[in-house]
Amino acid sequence: MGREKRLYPSILSADFTKLGEECLFLQELGCTHLHVDVMDGQFVPPISFGEPVIRSLRKAVDLFFDVHYMGLHPEYRIDSMAQCGAQSLTIHAETCVHLDAVLQKIHDAGMEAGVALNPATPLQVLDYVMDKLDQVLIMTVNPGYGGQSYLPSMTAKIRALREKLDAAGYGQVPIQVDGGIYASNVQVVLEAGADRIVSGSGVFGGDMKTNYEAFQAILQQYA
Ligand code: DX5
Ligand code: ZN
Repeated sequence: MGREKRLYPSILSADFTKLGEECLFLQELGCTHLHVDVMDGQFVPPISFGEPVIRSLRKAVDLFFDVHYMGLHPEYRIDSMAQCGAQSLTIHAETCVHLDAVLQKIHDAGMEAGVALNPATPLQVLDYVMDKLDQVLIMTVNPGYGGQSYLPSMTAKIRALREKLDAAGYGQVPIQVDGGIYASNVQVVLEAGADRIVSGSGVFGGDMKTNYEAFQAILQQYA
């Protein structure tokens, strides 16, 4: 775990007919981490992809797999995602009756553990699980779809979370942000205290090399 500023391209916006190829291209550009969005068609309306796709992609690239599970019953995903080669599993607080226990099980399976919060979910749900967090994911759109607009009210939430973690003695816990982030507005979330930047459309839409380099140039200013 670390608070280095880092880009996490979200493969939800990739062209799935050449998923391996596009991810390998990012790896060649110097990318080290991928954000892998799994949706169950229940917690969020769409179904994206699941274990078989992740298992195949694992063979194609040598990148850190940061799985974001937007689904019910996150406990069903723990062993299967670990077996697919996921290094990190982030689950939604809104789906967990036993949040502390689920985070512990993710660690027991050998992965890093993250908690994601929908835009309207208060930060207080984190109060008694801070010792089990490898990251907190602030959704800056309502989960379910790529290509939505950044919710401006999330800037204050990111700032409040940074202050909360610092004040509680968990200043080392990184904040990840996800939704509506492009090289053109990433400075807003970095200034608010975000460390890990997820971007789908902002990386895979248009020229990937240009997009990747534009993000890197800004992230380096905050290193
Ligand atoms: C949305 C997903 C995101 C999504 C972001 O529910 O969690 O990771 O891919 O896409 P953009 O960057 O296009 O908003
Ligand atoms: Zn995501």
